[in-house]
Amino acid sequence: MTGKGPDVFSDIADRYDRVNRILSLGRDRAWRQRALEFLPQGRVLDLGAGTGAVNVDMGERTLIAADPSLPMLSRNDSPARLAAFGERLPLADSVLDGVFSAFVFRNLTSVPETLAEIHRVLRPGASAVIVDLTRPIGKMKQGLHRMGSAVFVPLVGRLAGAPSEYRYLNVSLDKLPSPELLFAGGPLALDHTWRMGPLGFVYGAVLKRGR
Ligand SMILES: C[S@@+](CC[C@H](N)C(=O)[O-])C[C@H]1O[C@@H](n2cnc3c(N)ncnc32)[C@H](O)[C@@H]1O
Repeated sequence: MTGKGPDVFSDIADRYDRVNRILSLGRDRAWRQRALEFLPQGRVLDLGAGTGAVNVDMGERTLIAADPSLPMLSRNDSPARLAAFGERLPLADSVLDGVFSAFVFRNLTSVPETLAEIHRVLRPGASAVIVDLTRPIGKMKQGLHRMGSAVFVPLVGRLAGAPSEYRYLNVSLDKLPSPELLFAGGPLALDHTWRMGPLGFVYGAVLKRGR
């Protein structure tokens, strides 16, 4: 769950899943699973798919995994894989029933460009489901979370042999505004959001393309 563009993920691809599990206290799969409840069946894109941690829970859906980091993507067992950035998807217009993206949005070069691309490739009426990390709601919880993550995240990163990469994760938590602000006024309508994890520092968001 670090954040700094694809290069940093290429450097830690062999340790990514293990460290992710530790940092999320074993909850990352449950956070993705909750979001999958809102992902339509049919042909779906996993944007920033990484090593394919969600593949096992995709069920009957036809999955396309996209990620710009080849070391991450090479560990992904999806039969359909695209080396691609969210800002420029090599897909035709209106071909997908859903887009899923977990722990990616803080790493994007451009959220508006990526949202425009997601809107373009979704069929009218289709949905995107986003999961990512942010800060909790409320000054007190934010302060507590800032203190906790400033200690815990770099410590786990040091133990994993990737101190600078995981130091960046802490910084990236403050990079974007809350999901309600981030997705307001974009090309996709924000249907609803929810919070998960300690103090609510993980969010889920469902976005819909108009008909
Ligand atoms: C924290 S990992 C998440 C991987 C996976 N989604 C998961 O849930 O474990 C973030 C992924 O986003 C990818 N990424 C970085 N910049 C991206 C971009 N502009 N467009 C799409 N994916 C990007 C990285 O290469 C990395 O694999």
